[in-house]
Amino acid sequence: MSHSFRRREFLATLGKSGAALAAGSWLGSVGYAQTSRAAARTVINQRLSRADLDRRLLGAVLEHLGRAIYTGVYEPESPLADRNGFRTDVIEQVKGMAVPIMRYPGGNFVSGYNWLDGVGPKNQRPTVLERAWNSLETNQFGTNDFMDWCKLVNTEPLLGFNLGTGTPEQAVAYVEYCNVDKGTKWSELRRSHGYEQPHNVRYWCMGNEMDGPWQMGHMPAREYGRIARDCAQQIRVIDEKLQLIACGSSNTNMPTYLVWDREVLEECYDQVDGISLHNYYGNTPPLSGNSTARYLAMNLDMERQILEIGAVCDYVQGLQKSPKRLWLSFDEWNVWYRARSGPHVDGKRAFAPRLLEEVYNLEDALLVGGFLNTLLRQSERVRVGCLAQIINVIAPLVTNETSVLRQSIYYPYAWALKYARGRVLDLQVQAETYPIVAGDLQPDFARNDQVPFVDVVATLDPQNGQVCLLMLNRDLEGERELVLEWRNPTPTRVLACETLTGADVKAFNTFEQPQVVAPRALAPPAAGPSMTFKLPPRSYSVAHIATS
Ligand code: AHR
Repeated sequence: MSHSFRRREFLATLGKSGAALAAGSWLGSVGYAQTSRAAARTVINQRLSRADLDRRLLGAVLEHLGRAIYTGVYEPESPLADRNGFRTDVIEQVKGMAVPIMRYPGGNFVSGYNWLDGVGPKNQRPTVLERAWNSLETNQFGTNDFMDWCKLVNTEPLLGFNLGTGTPEQAVAYVEYCNVDKGTKWSELRRSHGYEQPHNVRYWCMGNEMDGPWQMGHMPAREYGRIARDCAQQIRVIDEKLQLIACGSSNTNMPTYLVWDREVLEECYDQVDGISLHNYYGNTPPLSGNSTARYLAMNLDMERQILEIGAVCDYVQGLQKSPKRLWLSFDEWNVWYRARSGPHVDGKRAFAPRLLEEVYNLEDALLVGGFLNTLLRQSERVRVGCLAQIINVIAPLVTNETSVLRQSIYYPYAWALKYARGRVLDLQVQAETYPIVAGDLQPDFARNDQVPFVDVVATLDPQNGQVCLLMLNRDLEGERELVLEWRNPTPTRVLACETLTGADVKAFNTFEQPQVVAPRALAPPAAGPSMTFKLPPRSYSVAHIATS
């Protein structure tokens, strides 16, 4: 389907509905103070789809960091623990979310990790000084424990190996330990540890953030690329079909951003399947000028990063005349800016210290919703995505001794997990915009742009015809209408419709008041060929719709 056809079709539909949009022509002067608001509009047509959704796009991270593993996932002394020492309340929450893939064991942690310390009899596992976060690591939870936990929460493992302080030989041995059936040194070691069946881990991260000077074993791009290629080539002997992810740039502010990715791929393109992207965002003076309006546009910065890294991949593909097109693994993303320095990142040689315990408010949740929209929109290119992280550390879930708290960001993530299925539709959304200005923001966030007030994505599950709509209203002052013109299929019933909103974008949940930022019902329009959603100001909403 050509773009011009889609546009003609779209305009025809708008014509039928009598819409007269002048978005962009007058908004610059009206900006945020406007009082009359034109509805955003889009057409739903199942013949126009962007990609089949690989649900691995909606994964998360579990790192040996702070209280993520110890007192998060694993706490044998707790009355809430099962016989393996796993917190049953956490299992229930994570399983209930249906997280499709979990990246483990790090993060920065992996670059100093000796995987052998974490396998075998627990009483023989060493306590070591963990150097990424200056913490004590008892190794009472390791790879096999993680695999057991993955089964309990019904998620797929995404394992990383150490290319920081570790050697290719140790990395390949780890793959052999996990995946070879039997009859070799490392597979027999696994079997001697009580795991007769191989774990069959399909997706592997080859190190973590190796472009970062903070990373143990940090090295120049070409050196990393050559090592990654060597590892990959050896791993292909074990199983040529494994999905191998090279380390891309750690964020868009790195001095080597894009150059790192190009040089790494020039060394290892033929041996890898994907490249990683990471980024963390915040409502800070350098990133947003402390402006919530600018902050809520940051998923468009994520979108630009995806397009830029994708372009580097395509450039190297062209250079190498390779038939293979790489996919992207956005395997660390989140809001993270308050608990990011000083005592928040220094474990002071303690066991399970409180690190990176970011408290998330409403505006963070709205932006996380925006990130999910961006990932879904770009799911043709981004196959794997991981919210960093899942529990206690920059996380939607937080434990205390007796319970689990859902932070504000839990809700948009849980909605996407629950409802986004099937195909991501190609929506052409017409919406009024507001301006953002570069000013003196950090260069990678300094952009003059027009940002749509309404950001919406839709999926359609061909199995059952159900449609999921995820709708962000960035308008801080007023309700926004979203008009959906249904071409095909026809909506028959609204199965669910909820919104996350509130008067105070800085509001957050606590164990004492866990429902301050929580979904409430949103009155849905009647199902029909034209449906108008009324999106509250400062909101992220979901609708789940049956169709015929
Ligand atoms: O997720 C927290 C940390 O952020 C990870 O360990 C690291 O990869 C990134 O810098």
